[in-house]
Amino acid sequence: MIREVITYPNKLLKQKSQDVEDFDQSIHTLLDDMYETMLTKNGIGLAAIQIAEPLNILIINLPNENDEQTKENLIEIINPKILNKKGSTLYTEGCLSVPEYYEDVERAEWIKVSYQDRNGNLLEKEYDGLMAIAFQHECDHLNGELFIEKLSFLKRKKFEKEWKKKLKGKK
Ligand code: CO
Repeated sequence: MIREVITYPNKLLKQKSQDVEDFDQSIHTLLDDMYETMLTKNGIGLAAIQIAEPLNILIINLPNENDEQTKENLIEIINPKILNKKGSTLYTEGCLSVPEYYEDVERAEWIKVSYQDRNGNLLEKEYDGLMAIAFQHECDHLNGELFIEKLSFLKRKKFEKEWKKKLKGKK
């Protein structure tokens, strides 16, 4: 089922998510809903809190070398932990909860992580490139943070002004 994606400044986005304990059908349905919702919005990543479910769940689906987004490349990530990080990289990020706004964000270039899959199996992985960036972006959502919180004071001020204008225009 396609769910509504909540957007800034909805206060739910500031909520810290909770770990998943039971890997039951309700979690599988939620993961399927997240995937369906993300695709309709043309996203490459989504955290459960973005559809108002405060659980430590995220999905990432990067396009392949032919720029196609296929379900084979979908990664379902439950109860993620970033165990180690190295280096730094700059990337122009966007977010389905801050639609049509893009800005450079600095993050670690390489990360070592652990997480569980939809059946509760524990995995340990190392990521770099866009996968590392997306993983860090989505983990921030689980801590109640958006990428706009990483902007400089002036960029954030400019963003708030533009966002207010945009919200007014939509009323
Ligand atoms: Co986001």
